Amino acid sequence: MNKFSRIGFILAAAGSAVGLGNIWRFPYITGEYGGGAFILIYLLAILFIGLTMFLAEAVIGQNGQSDVSTSFVALSTSKNKNWKFAGFMVATGLIILSFYSVVLGWILDYVITSFSTLPNEASIAGANFERLISEDVGSLIVYHTLIAGTVIFIVLKGIKDGIEKINLILMPLLGLILAGLLIYALTLDSFSQAVSFMFTPDFSKIDSHALLAALGQAFFTLSLGVGTILTYSASLPKKANFVKSSIVVAIVDTVIALVAGLIIFTFLFTAGAESAAGPGLVFISLPVIFSGWGMLGHIIAVSFFVALVFAGITSAVSMIEPALRFFIERYKISRQKATLICGGSFYFLGIIALLSMSKSFGAHLTFFGKNAFDIMDFMTSSIMMPLAAILICIFLAYFVEKDTLKEKFLAHTNETVFNIWYFLIKFIVPIAITILLLNKLGAI
Ligand code: TRP
Repeated sequence: MNKFSRIGFILAAAGSAVGLGNIWRFPYITGEYGGGAFILIYLLAILFIGLTMFLAEAVIGQNGQSDVSTSFVALSTSKNKNWKFAGFMVATGLIILSFYSVVLGWILDYVITSFSTLPNEASIAGANFERLISEDVGSLIVYHTLIAGTVIFIVLKGIKDGIEKINLILMPLLGLILAGLLIYALTLDSFSQAVSFMFTPDFSKIDSHALLAALGQAFFTLSLGVGTILTYSASLPKKANFVKSSIVVAIVDTVIALVAGLIIFTFLFTAGAESAAGPGLVFISLPVIFSGWGMLGHIIAVSFFVALVFAGITSAVSMIEPALRFFIERYKISRQKATLICGGSFYFLGIIALLSMSKSFGAHLTFFGKNAFDIMDFMTSSIMMPLAAILICIFLAYFVEKDTLKEKFLAHTNETVFNIWYFLIKFIVPIAITILLLNKLGAI
């Protein structure tokens, strides 16, 4: 049987959740929104919205034991075939993967160059980064090809020998590297400053933007709204405790984000650098700090960027799997053929994304003032993911028998937990996400 073991599922789902979102995005948006208060809101968003949606995808997937669209139909009241259309969400993963692979390519470049040179000034670091993404098209294509090739190689081997195995190797290694970096951070004086930055809430920094950013981050970091968790849960044995597994994954994901934050803010404060540097935090600010640490700096830089690659690869494989499963189950084609179709499409889109940021091709790949890379990002995280999430809520609240859901939850937890979950999925989550969606669309 090509199924996860229970620990295999937890590692794979955690591998999906833990990615660039935790180590790159979480620290920089926390920095931008001023630390403690933002983190508090983020934790509430994970608990009440993220975990609720995670459980929603898990229950649909585990019940269906199939691809996204088949699983929707299977759980719907009187098995309504119209729910097949929910399968649209598997396309989101492929689009995210296109530019995620490009970003992983940048990080690969950082791994390689960090062995020999680190920039000793922010202006140089900024110029290096700029040159990499806008001029070095040849290298970027090579990196994107390497990452895409790795992802394709892993998923070709299937759930057990591919996805489960790679997570069994990379997740503990990632844990080790982060533990090492955390221990080093603990020896630095500014560690306590990082702790107080992250855990002393200052609510004057919080406005509606911060609330929505926390919500969006909770969503992205738990890999929701793409069918990833749903599809992975479809390979979870039918009797396994999906409630407990989901909670464990949410905890692992949160702990890793917090640890990454502690490490990065300690490093930044040691150098007296800005905490609000934005997306360039990891690509521009950190290398300059590492360069001041001599040999040790190189070791830390390489370890840090390797950790990012590991975290990213396990997320990348989880973005393509929903589409693969969809093609395999619905069109009865082989995993090889499905991989060829899906791998080919995201590889091609990735090339477009990377060219769209370059000086030479950018102008041709810019539409409505946004380049293709940003368009793919916007379409997925601002539109398709929230839409899929709202759809999942409506589906569960109005098109599935409540008793069916209750029975699934009661096999593993008590009635209070179920009632809270059901209330959240019926009212709170869809409202919160609708507000997020409208805000992204500029309507509010
Ligand atoms: N959660 C991952 C991160 O934090 C990204 C990710 C993986 C993802 N799979 C996904 C995001 C599916 C959305 C949908 O980096």
